[in-house]
Amino acid sequence: MIAPSILSADFANLAAETRAVAGADWLHVDVMDAHFVPNLTLGLPIVQSLLKATAIPLDCHLMIEDPGRWAPPYAEAGAHNVTFHAEATDDPIAVARDIRAAGAKAGLSVKPGTPIEPYLEILRDFDTLLVMSVEPGFGGQSFIPEVLAKAKAVRRLVDSGELRLLVEIDGGINADTIEAAAEAGVDCFVAGSAVYGTADPAATVAALRARAATAAAAAAS
Ligand code: DX5
Ligand code: ZN
Repeated sequence: MIAPSILSADFANLAAETRAVAGADWLHVDVMDAHFVPNLTLGLPIVQSLLKATAIPLDCHLMIEDPGRWAPPYAEAGAHNVTFHAEATDDPIAVARDIRAAGAKAGLSVKPGTPIEPYLEILRDFDTLLVMSVEPGFGGQSFIPEVLAKAKAVRRLVDSGELRLLVEIDGGINADTIEAAAEAGVDCFVAGSAVYGTADPAATVAALRARAATAAAAAAS
């Protein structure tokens, strides 16, 4: 699955930018509060408008403090996924429960330097693990390959039936890096600059998906 990140889109033309990635599996929406990360993007009112502008499921990535307070309204609004950061709360299980009760899938995200071992148990309460492959805050950064060990570890638990969730990766994904992520067992690839930086974003989504599928099939054989 490919989730274009509208962080790299033209914020003055968001409805048109959703149409530019027709065929995308999810639309990744980066919510930043200028506290959890040193950048400020958009919030609930724009997500509500996006929900009216597109039928593509919204994958909301909350890079914010106090997700227990702010995450459930995104689920109530109709987001498909609501993902928050493990580093931002002491009670991730409660936040996941509230997101699910409000009707969305719950995602847990970890920064590149955050180990996954302390969270393996609680991943039972999540639908998605979002592995950050750059420091959250900005698009256009370089992929950090070391994070793939986390994707591989969780993939093994999914394949053995101990966990049931999607593994998603975010940051620096492009035609050069997507194959290594696919080989590591990633299910969903976020791509911002690599999609919106091209002349035909929808064609780029299809090309990235094909590249990932080929690499995953080769790794499985
Ligand atoms: C970064 C965001 C990403 C960002 C990825 O904090 O979470 O979703 O849009 O952008 P690229 O694909 O350009 O690295
Ligand atoms: Zn993101």
